[in-house]
Amino acid sequence: MANFIPEDKIEEVKNAADIVEVVSEYVLLKKTGRNYSGLCPFHSEKTPSFTVSPEKQIFHCFGCNTGGNVFSFLMKQDGLSFPESVRFLARRCGIDLPRPEMSGKMRQQLSEREQLFKINRYALEFFHAKLVSGSQGKQAMAYLKQRGFSRKIIDGFQLGYAPDAWDGLLNYLRHKRVPEGMIEKAGLIISRKDKNGYYDRFRNRIIFPILNMSRQTIGFGGRVMDDALPKYLNSPETPVYNKRRVLYGLIAAKNKCREDGTLYIVEGYFDQLALYQKGIENTAATLGTALTDEHIHLMKGFVKRAVLIFDSDEAGIKASERSVGLFVKEGVEAHVVMLPKGHDPDTFVAKFGPKAFSELAGNAMEVMSFLMHTAEKRHGLTVSGKLAILEDLLRPLASITDVSARQLYIKELSERLGIDEKAVLEKVRETIGVLAKEHQIQARRAERFSQAAEGMPPKQTQVRESRQENRLEQQIVAMMLQYPEILPEIDKSNVLAYFMDNTLLFLGQLIMDHPPDMEKGVSNLMSMVDDAEKRNILASLSIKEEMWNQRDCRKIISKLINHSPKRHEISLKAQISAAERENNQELVIKLLGELQKITVLNRKQMNAVLREQ
Ligand code: GTP
Ligand code: MN
Repeated sequence: MANFIPEDKIEEVKNAADIVEVVSEYVLLKKTGRNYSGLCPFHSEKTPSFTVSPEKQIFHCFGCNTGGNVFSFLMKQDGLSFPESVRFLARRCGIDLPRPEMSGKMRQQLSEREQLFKINRYALEFFHAKLVSGSQGKQAMAYLKQRGFSRKIIDGFQLGYAPDAWDGLLNYLRHKRVPEGMIEKAGLIISRKDKNGYYDRFRNRIIFPILNMSRQTIGFGGRVMDDALPKYLNSPETPVYNKRRVLYGLIAAKNKCREDGTLYIVEGYFDQLALYQKGIENTAATLGTALTDEHIHLMKGFVKRAVLIFDSDEAGIKASERSVGLFVKEGVEAHVVMLPKGHDPDTFVAKFGPKAFSELAGNAMEVMSFLMHTAEKRHGLTVSGKLAILEDLLRPLASITDVSARQLYIKELSERLGIDEKAVLEKVRETIGVLAKEHQIQARRAERFSQAAEGMPPKQTQVRESRQENRLEQQIVAMMLQYPEILPEIDKSNVLAYFMDNTLLFLGQLIMDHPPDMEKGVSNLMSMVDDAEKRNILASLSIKEEMWNQRDCRKIISKLINHSPKRHEISLKAQISAAERENNQELVIKLLGELQKITVLNRKQMNAVLREQ
């Protein structure tokens, strides 16, 4: 796909975009020496091991070993494809990229995800226009006004109206020459039962466009304007829409979150919009799903504290129980607010105003205390009540993976209930075992499911050499990256031929072919590597600074060659069998010749070693 954007343009974008600036949008970075560091957005941690090098224009996490350049960062963080990440940065840097018209061959080649974003964008424009101009949207507009929403909110969030017709959007998109199959893939139309054509999914509904953190339109929500059912209809899961990975309004909330450190999490579209309109802009809504760790990853870079707002006790308790562990694990503080009976955030701010809301939120209880408190209220502090409370809290406690945090909560609970701490601990341990088993079963099921879906045989456990064994090879690749002066030596000694680790061999050869220059060389190499694991290794080896000099480098090279006289032989034999399998006689003969040469050489080396002893 990348070939749609000319290489020199990609180069231009890469040179213009500063990785520190881009990453800072997602991660709070602190300058530490020559690099910047912060909490890794890709795994759970509390002490920063995520490092960004402005000189090399790469990032690397010492905790989870993820790494790459500015493009790979965006790909991973926002789930973008490579061309998407290039386009995104180009827009930011004001670089014009040639944008092919959607036509003929180009259309086929344009990546599916980009097509879906584009179709969703068309749909958003269609729905929004129907709401704000023309006669069809009048009733919808009146409904929104009656619910108190200003024109500014309607335009800012690009709310829309899906007309009361079976083919309003369908016809509009047909005119835009979008293939029906793609519109269906975007979840906007549904195939008729008799397979004879399609009809619009959203009809006679208020439309809420759902945007991801790169402002791409990934899906829609639609609400009826009367008591019809279902009240809400959302886009189905599509290649670009996954409700476990998106919070409605989060992109709009981001700036305020940064100022305030807090994100309010509500349950409904209208709750988010109502709070936003009243100035509580740091609000986002879950879309009919429980909070997931992916949600928390999204907010983690700019949010210190999440306040969960619930309007009903039962749902609130259930949701809090499930998410305690997630928040503790991600190091995001979580607080819980229960609204007065009969209110949701929308009706609450309408009646009591934003100040009352902020006060309520200011008194929010930390999530674990909230659970203890509600359990106490529910069961009372009799003997059987205390046992029931303990029972209620076992799962939330067991879901906390941070040992010291868990310990503190256990201490607090045992003091509150007057139960021996050790007894509580024992119970929590048991529950951890139960959870682990459940988790295993789920994971196995998921794996089997995905394998079946892809028609693949079960994954073989990859046999990777231990770090110790390929340490020398790693050191050599690292020196090639950090001390390019050594490259002629590498070439001359042919040390790469002694590599056993295929990944390191691949990287070594890549570096030989594209020697890193002083400026953004490593970042350059990064774009040439498709495979994430290889990119991670590349980043990890180039970011660990070492002081190289020619003498030490030579030592390492000869150590690899001499101390493992059999390496080359083994690797050659493997290459020979591969060539035989492919019936490449020419290569077999060439390799056999080499093998012969080195067995003689190895013998000589062995003799030399023996003589020394
Ligand atoms: P409004 O304020 O008019 O939206 O109604 P409400 O306050 O009663 O909202 P409710 O608590 O019913 O819904 C809150 C959120 O849950 C909505 O914004 C939706 O995201 C989700 N939801 C509610 N009803 C449905 C439904 O029928 N289907 C789906 N998929 N989601 C729903
Ligand atoms: Mn409501």
